[in-house]
Amino acid sequence: MNTVDIADKKFELLIENDNINKRIRLIGIQLNVDYEGRCPIFIGVLNGSFLFMADLLKEMDIPCEVAFVRVSSYKGTASSGTIKETLGLPENLANRDIILVEDIVDTGFTLKHILEKVQLQNPASVRVCTLLYKPEAIQVPVKELEYIGFEIPNEFVVGYGLDYDGLGRNLTDIYRAVPE
Ligand code: IMP
Repeated sequence: MNTVDIADKKFELLIENDNINKRIRLIGIQLNVDYEGRCPIFIGVLNGSFLFMADLLKEMDIPCEVAFVRVSSYKGTASSGTIKETLGLPENLANRDIILVEDIVDTGFTLKHILEKVQLQNPASVRVCTLLYKPEAIQVPVKELEYIGFEIPNEFVVGYGLDYDGLGRNLTDIYRAVPE
């Protein structure tokens, strides 16, 4: 499928599922090496990270735990998105190695908010693993951003967990919006 229609928009293929899986395998190898002898907690940021989290976890050979946090952002004022937690962080993060798992880092506001909350619990370490990263869109630098699947242009994308208006999360490939 090279194009899909979702609601009022047309999208075209950007990253095929085969390539996503290959990239995830490589990130998994890296994580297994970096966290050898430790037991990190992977914390997925819902909703968008659910497929990435599932496929990434299948690559892990080291002992690890899994949790999720859910946030919603209200971007009335685009430059200062207000973030609200609707499913809170686990409360046992002190002295633990945390890996935050995101579908996409766009402005960075969501991550900044979550990272501040995580740090309040005095973890041993915190790193971020994101499938997609839009370097041109970042507004708050995230120094913890260590594992990146793909850098993509500043365009709206759907599929593999990412939605447009709630739709498209079930697509196995990733698509970008075709400019109107
Ligand atoms: P940030 O706070 O601007 O970094 O936004 C991160 C969140 O916005 C992601 O977790 C996604 O839920 C959503 N988002 C950002 N860009 C896109 C996109 O291109 N497609 C779908 N969702 C997106």
